[in-house]
Amino acid sequence: LPSEPTKKMTMDEPVESLLSTTASKLVGKPINRVDGSLKVSGQATYSAEFYIEGQVYGVLVGATIAKGKVKHIDSRAVEALPGIIKVVTDPKHFLRNAQQGGEKKAPTQGVAEIFYHGQPIAAVIAETFEAATEGAKALKVTYQDETEDAVIDFDSALTDAHPVDEKKGSDKNHKQGNPEQGLKESEVSFDQIYHTPSQSNSPMEPHATLAYWEDEKLVLYTANQMLSSCKQQVADALNLDPNNVQLIARYVGGGFGSKLGIAPESIAAAISAKELKRPVLIVMTRPQVMETTIRRSDTRQRIGIGCDKEGVINTFIHNTITSNLPGESFFEPTALSTHYLYRGENRQVDYQMVDVNKVLSGSMRAPGEAVGMIAVECAMDELAIQLDMDPIELRRRNEPEQDPSQEIPFSTRQLIACMEKGAEQFGWEKRNKMPAKCLEGDWWLGIGMAASARGNKLKLSEARATLQIDGSKTLGVKAIIETDMTDIGTGSYTVFSQIAADLLGLPVDHIEMKLGDTSLPPAVGSGGSMGAASSGSSIYLACQQLREMLADKVGLHSDTIQLNNGQISKIGEQEATVTETIIESGKNVATELVEKLAEKTSVAIPDSVLDLLPEEQKAKQNRYDFSRHKNYSLADIIAQYDDQKLSAKGEIKPGKNEKTHRQSSFGANFAEVAVHRVTGEIRVKRMTGVFAAGRILNHKTATSQCYGGMVFGIGSALMEEVIHDKHDGRLCNHDLSEYHIPVNADVPQLDVILLEEDDRYTNPMHIKGIGETAISGAAAAIANAIYNAVGIRVRDFPITLDKLI
Ligand code: MOS
Repeated sequence: LPSEPTKKMTMDEPVESLLSTTASKLVGKPINRVDGSLKVSGQATYSAEFYIEGQVYGVLVGATIAKGKVKHIDSRAVEALPGIIKVVTDPKHFLRNAQQGGEKKAPTQGVAEIFYHGQPIAAVIAETFEAATEGAKALKVTYQDETEDAVIDFDSALTDAHPVDEKKGSDKNHKQGNPEQGLKESEVSFDQIYHTPSQSNSPMEPHATLAYWEDEKLVLYTANQMLSSCKQQVADALNLDPNNVQLIARYVGGGFGSKLGIAPESIAAAISAKELKRPVLIVMTRPQVMETTIRRSDTRQRIGIGCDKEGVINTFIHNTITSNLPGESFFEPTALSTHYLYRGENRQVDYQMVDVNKVLSGSMRAPGEAVGMIAVECAMDELAIQLDMDPIELRRRNEPEQDPSQEIPFSTRQLIACMEKGAEQFGWEKRNKMPAKCLEGDWWLGIGMAASARGNKLKLSEARATLQIDGSKTLGVKAIIETDMTDIGTGSYTVFSQIAADLLGLPVDHIEMKLGDTSLPPAVGSGGSMGAASSGSSIYLACQQLREMLADKVGLHSDTIQLNNGQISKIGEQEATVTETIIESGKNVATELVEKLAEKTSVAIPDSVLDLLPEEQKAKQNRYDFSRHKNYSLADIIAQYDDQKLSAKGEIKPGKNEKTHRQSSFGANFAEVAVHRVTGEIRVKRMTGVFAAGRILNHKTATSQCYGGMVFGIGSALMEEVIHDKHDGRLCNHDLSEYHIPVNADVPQLDVILLEEDDRYTNPMHIKGIGETAISGAAAAIANAIYNAVGIRVRDFPITLDKLI
């Protein structure tokens, strides 16, 4: 097949955006989710809900020791139970999982050992889910040596910290100037240790996979965030040609990082389906999700800051120790924003890690900044108090003119604007800067703030856009957008529909989005707040390519066309609508309207007349004469193509802009808390977040993303903590009744303000990642408010009431 016309763009220089020029200006509008009614009516089908004729059910069985070897699995006794088909044990494949999206790393092969409690060691397959559950409970596993010493406790393992493998991380160690000396010799210095606990991603939809084979080809309906890289992981794990692997995830009920890579149930379902020659569905229970997918690592962070008496920082040190399973390379990149957040000629970022026998650590909700900025932004608050300075003023004085570690300019940076807007909106000036001064009834009240920053990234992504005739649509034509990008609840279906609708001049309901299937053009997927920018840009480019093809077809330059309401016109010559004409024409409606319409309307040359002309004159400029006729319908144009459709692709790539300009979203969180005088109970009373993240694609979905980040800031500050039993490594709080995330009663009304921003360096849409911006720093704002309320500084998170009394 001839390759489709493809618009490619590498972000090597700033670009203008067509989104500023479209007639409909749908991008930005707070439209409702296009998939909203499907979701609330149960018609959006999630992985666990598919049924394929003949399918059977699997339940995973996890190890009950944290370190050691399996001696025997008594499959026979279980296989004799009613309804049980087989106990599938294939330690080569699903003992460990690969979770780091983008790393393209396959699950570790040939591992015959247990590395953590809960590690899957078998799958019991049965005719019903209930039988499989019973079988899994009944399965007797014996271990060779149950006394092998597992390392569970992070704090006591810290002495064995070793350097990280920087090549495999998403951040690097950094040293400039002379940090330790700078700290020692500064007029004012600050040096403290912060601890954040292990946390669980806890997406609403548990991980689930339905696997079946079509000869050599494996098809997985699975809950994943990043399909292209997961396809590769599955292929690597099972030694398959990636072309023989198809992943389908049209709807995903949240991931928060836990679905960036494949989880063990995918591989277990795939090999079980192969052995049994039947489709196999494995749905994890909530405890299994928490025990066998990933967790966020516990962190120990040292923050050292040196400054003069005026608060001008010369030294910033951020050293972090995190944990992971032995042999794993992922480490929580806590200092991602430390590289550029504040000024300082001496700077050090250093990462170390310890090996522990706990659930694999991986990316979770703004990996890096979400917990790194807890330390940084609490430290800034502490330093402001030490200097007797307003915390916003301290940050203002440390605003760098450029990225201080790479010495490159920021593409845009609105940290100060966000802080100022937030201060005004929140009533910051009412804050009593002395802590523990405001007692209202039995509650101490306090106000705090923290900055937010989350780096912006672009990743290679492709999409296809097709315009085709569709008689069921009012305009007779629709656009189909295809990419294997996912919508994990973030609003991809909606914001991409808005982009395509604007660029193709069609209403949103004329856009058919096809996402979440690896048979579609590959995209980066949902993760790292890169999805909307990367996938959205590929869709933008595919639509731009279509615009150019349409312009060419009608004999115009693409710069001079306007697409609106299913019509193509020449810029500046759009036909006024009848209503507009009536309004324009004022009083003598009847007479003037007739005259005006006569003026503005022209008749297209009928095909019957065109057909009489010699061949060369039938060219497009004759068919499309914009001096005679102001608009042509897209449907009519598309109808002329043999297969009644017009298709094009778009491809975006990161380029030099990443190196020449530091790109980041910025923001500021403000919180007011109440702390009970007697019990120490902490309630968040209100929060305001102000964020600048480039052009906003949809104010409603973007605001919702920020709400989510702020809610999880409350979780990080006050409640979330994975606890492993120090004796056997079992995850003690492995469900949502014991692992506390904020619920409605914990969350006050949140205010979100999105500042206007135009960043031409990021991508052709000028958008930036927003999903993970709000959580970055949110917990610190709450911690700082707690200090302001009661004068107690807690550096060991979460801040539970016992730490205040
Ligand atoms: Mo996000 S933790 O990059 O899914």
